[in-house]
Amino acid sequence: MLAVLPCVALSQSGNGTFMNPILNATGADPWVVQDGGYYYMTYTTNSDITLLRSKILSNWDSAESKVIFQPEPGMNYSTDLWAPEIHSIGGSWWVIFTADPNNDSPTPEVDMYCTFNCPAVFHRMYVLHSGGPDIWTSNYTMKSQLDTFDQFAIDGTYFQHSSGLYHVYSCWYSATISWPANLCITKMSDPFTVSSTLEERQIISEPTEPWEKTPYNRTANVRLNSNEGPQQLTNPKTNQTFIIYSAARSDNRNYCLGQLELIGTDPMNPQDWKKHEEGCIFYQNPDEESFGVGHASFVKSPDGSQDWIVYHGMRDPANGWAARTIRTQEFTWAQDGSPSFPRPGYGPYKVPSGE
Ligand SMILES: *[C@@H]1O[C@H](CO)[C@@H](O)[C@H](O)[C@H]1NC(C)=O
Ligand SMILES: *[C@@H]1O[C@H](CO)[C@@H](O)[C@H](O)[C@H]1NC(C)=O
Ligand SMILES: *[C@@H]1O[C@H](CO)[C@@H](O)[C@H](O)[C@H]1NC(C)=O
Ligand SMILES: *[C@@H]1O[C@H](CO)[C@@H](O)[C@H](O)[C@H]1NC(C)=O
Ligand SMILES: *[C@@H]1O[C@H](CO)[C@@H](O)[C@H](O)[C@H]1NC(C)=O
Ligand SMILES: *[C@@H]1O[C@H](CO)[C@@H](O)[C@H](O)[C@H]1NC(C)=O
Repeated sequence: MLAVLPCVALSQSGNGTFMNPILNATGADPWVVQDGGYYYMTYTTNSDITLLRSKILSNWDSAESKVIFQPEPGMNYSTDLWAPEIHSIGGSWWVIFTADPNNDSPTPEVDMYCTFNCPAVFHRMYVLHSGGPDIWTSNYTMKSQLDTFDQFAIDGTYFQHSSGLYHVYSCWYSATISWPANLCITKMSDPFTVSSTLEERQIISEPTEPWEKTPYNRTANVRLNSNEGPQQLTNPKTNQTFIIYSAARSDNRNYCLGQLELIGTDPMNPQDWKKHEEGCIFYQNPDEESFGVGHASFVKSPDGSQDWIVYHGMRDPANGWAARTIRTQEFTWAQDGSPSFPRPGYGPYKVPSGE
């Protein structure tokens, strides 16, 4: 007689659970999207834009991988390629990412105008476009720089709303006021064209709360105070719209997620956004050696029944950027319709439903 095989698919770990991190490499700023039965992940490699694909969310060690963009040298976007995201808009794929020229080392004549030293002064946002509708087989080519008025811009994302398409990104007050890093919004007429002027650009969040400053409640000045890594998140039941962003400093244990909710109808009106002022909504868990958790994106379980956060964190908070790895956990929704995130850790956790 044949042995009766279990009828549920087992996870890659073989027992229905997984451990963080989900990618056996250092990595930061993960962004994941689902399409046609696969998960696709891109993240900061600094030198190129790499796309991974996997049937499962909980383990990427044997994922297929391809470089979809290798910048040529000598361009304003040749180095420090950060926080890529890939969005399906209007039937094709748009990669939005941060980059700079020549590892952004401003000359003393540039640096002297900045309020603090400003190695990020030439970071800007760029967009690639897929040659076709298929995320994996398409060829990606440089489409345009996004207009940020020749000012610092990092971690840009698309914000989609019934009133149109927007660019939300981390910005300075001006070209040379090099801290704090705020969240700015501009209108777009298509995925590669900003239509707002500098005067129309709006700041929808500034790192004014103690937990958005580094060290905590810094009072000396505004250096290292930041809001970055904005990401749209919509409650599927109530349609409440949030921007989940990263606050404090990315090389630091206090890096965490903050929350803005769109409580009005106009994303360009700062008064229509409400910050969760009480504190981070997802933050370090020293009991599980989980520090500096942030820069998240959001996906569903394979069967669509659960919500999952994909984020980076560090086990060794003293090692800064080099210590970051990519993790995932399930999250739920609170009574008030806002996301309810778990404490960060390593598991074992149950694999996503349907995996
Ligand atoms: C299940 O697999 C994970 C990942 O390999 C492992 O860490 C965990 O200890 C296993 N749990 C059990 C109960 O075997
Ligand atoms: C993780 O990567 C290290 C270094 O490349 C390797 O030695 C190890 O076998 C890998 N582990 C897994 C589970 O892939
Ligand atoms: C490169 O960036 C500099 C500084 O922002 C700018 O002045 C220059 O026009 C840019 N070059 C191109 C080709 O966009
Ligand atoms: C992408 O470019 C390669 C090399 O030029 C070409 O062989 C391939 O057919 C292209 N793929 C698509 C989907 O156009
Ligand atoms: C932050 O610092 C200010 C100025 O020193 C102080 O008034 C305030 O109580 C501090 N807030 C917290 C939450 O520690
Ligand atoms: C949410 O939006 C969808 C699509 O516009 C709509 O069908 C649904 O009724 C909305 N739900 C609520 C609770 O507003």
